[in-house]
Amino acid sequence: MAQAIPATISGQPVLILKEGTSRAQGREAQRSNITAAKIIAEAVRSSLGPKGMDKMLVSSFGDATVTNDGAVILKEMDVQHPVAKMMVEISKAQDDEMGDGTTSAVVLAGELLTKAEDLIEKDVHPTVIVEGYRKATEKALEVLNSLAIKADPKDRAMLKKVAVVSQAGKVLRENADFVADLAVDAVMQVAEQTAEGYKVEIKDINVLKKAGESITDTKLVQGVILDKEVVHPGMPKRVENAKIALLNAAVEVEKTEFDAKINIQTPEQMKAFLDEEESILRGMVDKVSQVGANVLVCQKGIDDVAQHFLAKKGILAVRRAKESDMEALSKATGGKIVTNIDDLKPTDLGSAKLAEERKVADDKMTFIEGCKNPKSVSMLVRGGTERIVDEAERSLHDALCVVRDVIRDPRIVVGGGAVEVELAAQLKRWAEKLTGREQLAALAFAEALESIPLALAENAGLDPIDILVEMRASHEKGEKWVGVDVMEGKVKDMTKLDVYEPLAVKEQMLKSAGEAASMILKIDDIIAAGKLKEEGRPPKMPGEEGEEKTSEFD
Ligand SMILES: Nc1ncnc2c1ncn2[C@@H]1O[C@H](COP(=O)(O)OP(=O)(O)OP(=O)(O)O)[C@@H](O)[C@H]1O
Ligand SMILES: [Mg+2]
Repeated sequence: MAQAIPATISGQPVLILKEGTSRAQGREAQRSNITAAKIIAEAVRSSLGPKGMDKMLVSSFGDATVTNDGAVILKEMDVQHPVAKMMVEISKAQDDEMGDGTTSAVVLAGELLTKAEDLIEKDVHPTVIVEGYRKATEKALEVLNSLAIKADPKDRAMLKKVAVVSQAGKVLRENADFVADLAVDAVMQVAEQTAEGYKVEIKDINVLKKAGESITDTKLVQGVILDKEVVHPGMPKRVENAKIALLNAAVEVEKTEFDAKINIQTPEQMKAFLDEEESILRGMVDKVSQVGANVLVCQKGIDDVAQHFLAKKGILAVRRAKESDMEALSKATGGKIVTNIDDLKPTDLGSAKLAEERKVADDKMTFIEGCKNPKSVSMLVRGGTERIVDEAERSLHDALCVVRDVIRDPRIVVGGGAVEVELAAQLKRWAEKLTGREQLAALAFAEALESIPLALAENAGLDPIDILVEMRASHEKGEKWVGVDVMEGKVKDMTKLDVYEPLAVKEQMLKSAGEAASMILKIDDIIAAGKLKEEGRPPKMPGEEGEEKTSEFD
């Protein structure tokens, strides 16, 4: 186990590190790190693929999350070991970059480390393994590119196929078709063609969730859904042909920044003062109405008196809208966000077919919909319970991401383990030409890729070895699209089952797994600071972790 600092000079210990510091070096450090990484990979492995199981994660507050998403599982696990944390980071990186393939990346990284451990046992130095893995990753990326199939970013049917595959194995897989359609519609709507291809930002698809009804009641709105009600009961709740003013300023009488005192002596003076305030507010409302707006969305507050005037003019108003919603509204309606009400011009107004307040579950929401070719859309996710809605949102996120990935880089590969087995076969042939121990590492990399089809088969209750042997034989014969048909329990040409995935997801999987494995392998010394002493600390608040909050008055 970890040892204390051993340095001594003529019998006198030389203290270099603080008391309580532990240290592990060489093989011991590597072994401990690899074990931690393997445990993490093992934890998510059973959730890979269409037949993967789901996980229930219970937080310290007792909240349960049921999910199949690798990134979410690892995030919720709240691991302690630093290397385990690095594995969690891979899944996060994969999730941020591509949105899918998080489980695969972690499984592959775990397998790369398992194979590395065997090599270390055989006296192959970790630097040699790292170098071999680096070369193999490069070669794998090259082969992967040659295996990619060109897709058309406007081909709805193809985009949908990729979206359906991303739903395989999710808790709500029965709704894959429905979710895929929604995702394709949404992403195609916000995609913008540029000289270098399509540009798509997932944040232009605003996803809101509300428990109630069922997943199939999830709706895509060509515009924006504001989680806000109309401010005044006297205002219209429905405005057709909406002309929308977007205001980032308060419809209130500004308070002075310094303290001012006004001496009012007579009731007339008081009345004059109030009248003046009222007339300022009236002026503001008149301005909104003069430019032709019948809907006002305000990022700041709206004074009660102004609300009353707006209602009298028949203007539907919403206040304290989120900044992100204001930006979305601007993109969707073509309106301009104005920061000074006096600058408002008719050309600043956005337009939508309908602005309407609707009751959704127990809340009131304002829908601004029917925008013409909006570059920002919204989705209201529904589902029986809070937990279902949460998972539906996560599944939808995966679908949106893969469609975006394909539109951005219209190349796809064949899933179901087919591409991994083909990569492994070609890499093995390539590795034969390498010399020395690097070859062993490159071969190990190739074999590690087979962990994906192995896990797919295992999770489907099949004999993983039999399936892999059959797959290898088919690939040897040049049938490069043969993968695991988890439904029928045999090997099959995956193009017949429409199992396609974005090339970008697989590329990222190779890169992040390779990088993580190398980073972990290069560590040969772990110096861990001792735990902070508990004495002298105030008692912890329930739920409070490690860090303490210091009071302002300290
Ligand atoms: N119908 C299918 N038949 C066989 N394999 C499939 C099928 N659909 C998907 N797969 C495979 O399942 C794997 C993806 O599984 P899954 O979605 O559970 O994990 P992930 O994409 O790596 O991670 P996550 O979705 O959690 O981010 C891919 O290898 C994919 O090719
Ligand atoms: Mg997936």
